[in-house]
Amino acid sequence: MHNEKDGEKDFFEIEGLAGQRILSGTISVGGAKNAVLKVLASSLLFKNEVSLSNVPDIEDVHRILEILEDLGVVVEKKNAHTYKLFTDKINTHIISPEIAKRIRASIVLTGPLLARLGKVSFPHPGGCVIGKRPIDVFMEGFDLLGAEVEEKENSYLIKTKNKNLHGAEIFLKTPSVTGTETLMMTAVLAKGTTVIKNAALEPEIESLGDFLNQCGAKISGLGTPTITIVGGDLLDGANQTYVTMPDRIEAGSFVVLGALAGEDLTVDKCNPTQIDSLLYYLRNSGVKMEVGTDYVRIKGAQPKVFKSFDVKTHEYPSFPTDLQAPLSVFLTQTTGQSFIFETIFEGRLQYLETLVRMGADAKILDAHRAIVEGPTPLHGRQVESPDLRAGLAYVLAGIIASGQTVVHNVYYIDRGYENIIERLKKVGVKIARKN
Ligand code: EPU
Repeated sequence: MHNEKDGEKDFFEIEGLAGQRILSGTISVGGAKNAVLKVLASSLLFKNEVSLSNVPDIEDVHRILEILEDLGVVVEKKNAHTYKLFTDKINTHIISPEIAKRIRASIVLTGPLLARLGKVSFPHPGGCVIGKRPIDVFMEGFDLLGAEVEEKENSYLIKTKNKNLHGAEIFLKTPSVTGTETLMMTAVLAKGTTVIKNAALEPEIESLGDFLNQCGAKISGLGTPTITIVGGDLLDGANQTYVTMPDRIEAGSFVVLGALAGEDLTVDKCNPTQIDSLLYYLRNSGVKMEVGTDYVRIKGAQPKVFKSFDVKTHEYPSFPTDLQAPLSVFLTQTTGQSFIFETIFEGRLQYLETLVRMGADAKILDAHRAIVEGPTPLHGRQVESPDLRAGLAYVLAGIIASGQTVVHNVYYIDRGYENIIERLKKVGVKIARKN
């Protein structure tokens, strides 16, 4: 395990393939970061225990577990990917600011803690530098569920107005992923029925909701924009195990790698239907793929020229913002002009400036739009990972570039991708971790 200090010093050294398509073998997808973090947070809704398997061994998971331990949860690590959490005693309503500010996803702990103890104190959440990332959706929801918010100098204190939270009809002004998850978890212990309208549709929400239902929650409408929750008692996790769903962003990033440099590369242990939008774009661009129920194989002769295309990020099932940076690396290798429209976050295009230093022909038009003209060969450079998805995009760029690329600040990459070096090496990438 690498802690933040190691990750800050560590760097990745990549010897680029200079455009050769030689990667082959199988690269396996791990458990989804953005699913398991929420299930870990939901442990606060359980009277006894929660068992989890296929948990990715990544920094964000370690951070959430640290916060949970601080709150009183007893964490038993069975092996690198299997945990049992004992949740019968929760000792404090204060989410540790030191840890929380390093992980934006800590915001999802607020709802379950409020529901369990009637109050929660937490700092403004940290995480990636990819835009304003407000929390008004959460605050409006808490208010409707019967809580009041007090803003202190560096933190918020949220308390139930009366004794209990109560069901409510909550329209989300924007279909926030963590907002939907947090309010859904809060409503599991609120009295009466809650209806969340304009809920997000991301598959991680359904995965969380299905597990909570297995343990006694009454949630319906998962995977649709209207989720209904009938509140009840603390959940019972005895004899249940949450098996973490495959990470669709990791899967998509590896498929892009295959499209860029695969001779015969299989991405397995994934759910291809959850990356339909990516597969659609790549296929229309000319990438030849074989898609099975749990794998994508990029093999055989690929066309000499891939067609450029326009891409617009959007809520699920449209193209995910978390795959925008990796896909842009592919766009640098397509022929013609591509237009990128990032509709979810402002400030998630800055990484393109680094791709330009590596030889890409890209122009940021404003906070949401950019154009890429291709194809352009890329050259190895010293680069700094600004967040985890852009960090991985730099790794992809370094792999196809000529010469050596050094990626600094790999703490960000460790936050989301387990053992990335070993997995890439196995399929033929020349990459090493150094410090
Ligand atoms: N928004 C508001 N108010 C809020 C919350 C969100 O206006 O109270 C806006 C945001 O500013 C943004 C939009 O709503 O413009 C969507 O943001 P959302 O809340 O859905 O994002 P999130 O829940 O904070 C999750 C993932 C992100 C992923 C986004 C979008 C987790 C822990 N994080 O974030 O993942 O990019 O959904 O799909 O689930 C990553 O893994 O690298 C990552 C950033």
